[in-house]
Amino acid sequence: MPIERTLVILKPDAVQRGLVGEIISRFEKAGLKIVAMKMIKATPEQIEKFYPSSEEWYRSAGSKLLKAYQELGIDPRSKIGTDDPVLVGKKIKESLVKYMTSGPIVILVLKGNRAVEVVRKLVGPTSPHIAPPGTIRGDYSCDSPDLAAEEDRVVYNLVHASDSVAEAEREIRFWFREDEILD
Ligand code: CDP
Ligand code: MG
Repeated sequence: MPIERTLVILKPDAVQRGLVGEIISRFEKAGLKIVAMKMIKATPEQIEKFYPSSEEWYRSAGSKLLKAYQELGIDPRSKIGTDDPVLVGKKIKESLVKYMTSGPIVILVLKGNRAVEVVRKLVGPTSPHIAPPGTIRGDYSCDSPDLAAEEDRVVYNLVHASDSVAEAEREIRFWFREDEILD
C-alpha cells in the first residue's frame, strides 16, 4: 500500500525561531494530511529511548561527522579524541538528548502517498550546509557537523523525519496512542 504514515518532529530550534507554521505548511502544500499533532517538552529519558541505541545507529551517525572532517582534511582525533565511528556516534547521541530537551517540540503524524519518502525529500539531508535549496533544512539553516562539533553540540537541523516505513510505525507508537491519531 503506497498510503503511509510518518512521524515528524519540529525540533527546539524550529520552535524557538518561529518556523512552526512555515514548516508545517510545506508538508500540507505537498498534499500530506496531518492526522495527529502535539506540543511537549520532552524528557531526557524519552529522547534517549526514542533514538536507537544500536551499534548500527551509532555507526551511521558517527560516520556522518567523520565524513565531514575527512572532506575538510581535519584529523577527528585532534578534535573529538577518536576516529571510531561507534564512539563518535555515542557522543552524538548524548548531545542529541541535550538538544532535543532544550525547549518545546512539536510532534506530528503525517499521512499520504509514500509519506515516508516524500517527507524525507522535503526535509533534505542531515546536514543543512549540503541540503539543497527548496528543502526545509537547506532553506532555513546553514549548519554543519564540523561547526556543531566545534561548539560541542549536534547539528541544528530543525526537523526529524522517520527514515523507513517500519521505523515510522515504531516512532508513531512511541509518541501517540492509536486513539490520538485520526483517519
Ligand atoms: O535526522 P536524520 O535522520 O537526518 O539523521 P540521523 O543520522 O538519524 O541523526 C539524528 C540527528 O542527530 C540529526 O538530525 C542531527 O541533529 C544529529 N546528528 C549530528 O548532529 N551529527 C551527526 N554526525 C549525525 C547526527
Ligand atoms: Mg534518522
